[in-house]
Amino acid sequence: MENPFYITGIIPEPYFCDREKETAWIVRTLENKAHILLTSPRRMGKTQLIRHVFEQPSIKNRCYTFYTDIYPTTSLHELVLFLSKEIYSVLVPKGKTVLDKFLAGLHSLAGSFGYDPVSNTPTFNIKLGDIHSPELTLEEIFCYLEQADKPCIFAIDEFQQIANYPEKNVEATLRAHIQKMNNCLFIYAGSNRHILENMFNSAAKPFYNSAEQIFLDCISKDIYTAFAEELFAKAGRRITPNTTAYAYDLFEGHTYYVHNVLHNAFAYVDPDKIVEETDIDNTLSDILEEKGRSFASLMNQMNYQHKETLIAIAKEGKASRVTSVNFVKKHSLKSPSSVQYAISALLEKQLLTYQNDGRTKVYSVADRFLEMWICRIY
Ligand SMILES: Nc1ncnc2c1ncn2[C@@H]1O[C@H](COP(=O)(O)OP(=O)(O)OP(=O)(O)O)[C@@H](O)[C@H]1O
Ligand SMILES: [Mg+2]
Repeated sequence: MENPFYITGIIPEPYFCDREKETAWIVRTLENKAHILLTSPRRMGKTQLIRHVFEQPSIKNRCYTFYTDIYPTTSLHELVLFLSKEIYSVLVPKGKTVLDKFLAGLHSLAGSFGYDPVSNTPTFNIKLGDIHSPELTLEEIFCYLEQADKPCIFAIDEFQQIANYPEKNVEATLRAHIQKMNNCLFIYAGSNRHILENMFNSAAKPFYNSAEQIFLDCISKDIYTAFAEELFAKAGRRITPNTTAYAYDLFEGHTYYVHNVLHNAFAYVDPDKIVEETDIDNTLSDILEEKGRSFASLMNQMNYQHKETLIAIAKEGKASRVTSVNFVKKHSLKSPSSVQYAISALLEKQLLTYQNDGRTKVYSVADRFLEMWICRIY
């Protein structure tokens, strides 16, 4: 029996839980021709939500949808490569005429394509070194999107990466192109709120006010637990309602973590046994043990002040007023300023995340398994 709790890859529709309101809002916003900024803490479900939106008939039947995750990129060259590769792979199955239209527009890369004599189509084997003038190629890509024979929606995941590119004015260049487009809408997604909010909410920045914003929170407890119980039931398995609620509460509903624990409970608890709270505890211990090695090496490579700050925040769970004398004293940290530095570095590395509570920032460890592991080890 296939495990219905997907923790990697694309989730087939019957195993995708809820997100009805968010999906409807995004579809409606796109229909109103507005770009979207989608943020959430890490592993809440942004990527899956985007894929789900793209599966909606009103989108799927009418538009070309593109999705690229630019987390690995550190330069405009790579961005250009990722965008063009994605367009290529979406267009290949649409046939030669459609594909040729795209490739013919990429004058700056002409001569860099291979050719597959069997399928009678060009192959995309562009290397970073082939992109000599990324600004020009970028322009050609946008030009294609503008002239495509269907409306386009391009989701760029982990969009905050562009803020780190060494090239000058990348944000301004991108924004200038996008502003002129009528045929392509963008979904900018990412979990680094720190950078994304700065990009979209400061008046001095090129992307200021250029997208409708949606913050993705947990799936509600009633909906998620009913869904999880149904997945067990459909497989002829049993789990008590208290247990699904217990798994949900362990992580305050943080999607990936709850889902991961139930995935493992489904996989490893004897199929004839009713899954109970103790099974969740055991499953969680196994997960933490398995992840322990990589967590240990992460801690091993960390600067001491960053480490003690991370530990303090893990122990606190949700930490506010972190640069106050109280917090520094309580956790025997060096000084408010050292905590301030550590927090910037840890946010940058996405090891910490925060939520706004009025004007105060409430910090927590981004990876809940890491948080639990730290609390057990230190
Ligand atoms: N609607 C959903 N139904 C079922 N499982 C979900 C759903 N949303 C998220 N998940 C679970 O959470 C995992 C993480 O989701 P996803 O990759 O979309 O999160 P993310 O916010 O993009 O994370 P990251 O910040 O790491 O990119 C999925 O692999 C899946 O296990
Ligand atoms: Mg993602």
